[in-house]
Amino acid sequence: MNNDDFRKELNDKVRLIDQVLDNYLSISEVIPEILSQAMRYSMFAGGKRLRPILLLASAEAVGGNTESLLPAAAAFEMVHTYSLIHDDLPAMDNDDFRRGQPTNHKVFGEAMAILAGDGLLTHAFGLITECSDSGNVSPEMIITVIKELSLAAGPCGMLGGQIVDIHSENRPIDKDILHYIHSHKTGALFKACIRAGAIMGGGSAAQLAALTQYAENLGLAFQITDDVLDVEGDSGKMGKTAGSDARLKKSTYPSIYGLEESKKLAADAVDRAVAALNMFGKEADLLRRVAGYLLKREQ
Ligand code: IPE
Ligand code: IPE
Ligand code: MG
Ligand code: MG
Ligand code: MG
Repeated sequence: MNNDDFRKELNDKVRLIDQVLDNYLSISEVIPEILSQAMRYSMFAGGKRLRPILLLASAEAVGGNTESLLPAAAAFEMVHTYSLIHDDLPAMDNDDFRRGQPTNHKVFGEAMAILAGDGLLTHAFGLITECSDSGNVSPEMIITVIKELSLAAGPCGMLGGQIVDIHSENRPIDKDILHYIHSHKTGALFKACIRAGAIMGGGSAAQLAALTQYAENLGLAFQITDDVLDVEGDSGKMGKTAGSDARLKKSTYPSIYGLEESKKLAADAVDRAVAALNMFGKEADLLRRVAGYLLKREQ
């Protein structure tokens, strides 16, 4: 897959995902107008859509029908977007920019930002159930994926990581705790979306195990790179303000391992992620390309 094919593949998937999100959020005439505006504001501010792309790419790797999985893919992006709205709140990271725009609470106020986040999170679970409309996804698969998402986004997963992240501001932590933070606040959702693609795509137990290995390493590499970009990235390109971690005295990979070692650890994790795909042929090329892209990303 050359660079142009890779770009096209990503753009095509983003278009399909955005269509599903737009439909699902616009059939909602019963949502109060201001809440609908606040939810749509962050949803369509322009994220990379990595989690839904990975869900679809994982389904592709196991030979699944990806079109049927679009509602689940979009649902993961709704949960991710909710997490960003809340992560930026004054009581959390207190950030002013996200996805190149003022943060949700800067535009709509804190109460609305909290509720817009709640709205996206809760609405996402209903969207996953729409995968059954295609006839290709069994109710058992949907139940399994809902359970995976609930565990990944809730207190056993992302929330656990967010709590320890906040609790670790202004204090030294050891490497095990740093690893816990990263694998939970960020890794858990990556792992769940990749596993969801494999489960709903009809993957075997061995394929699911390999994709889980891929996902764990990819999630780690992703958050290490996020930390590195916070130190040396360009706020304009990232669409969020660099230096946020230092301002809040967060424990990050660069603050504990240093910048160069952090980059090496991210590259090693990407190597392990790609190696985990050994049992797959070219049907896993998109997963391989996304892993490589994560290291070079500037946004
Ligand atoms: C940012 O995620 C939040 C983290 C988990 C580090 P992304 O970098 O995927 O953000 P968007 O979706 O592209 O805005
Ligand atoms: C965020 O980690 C993880 C979640 C949103 C769950 P960060 O706080 O490092 O993400 P950014 O840098 O603000 O995007
Ligand atoms: Mg944070
Ligand atoms: Mg943050
Ligand atoms: Mg960050």
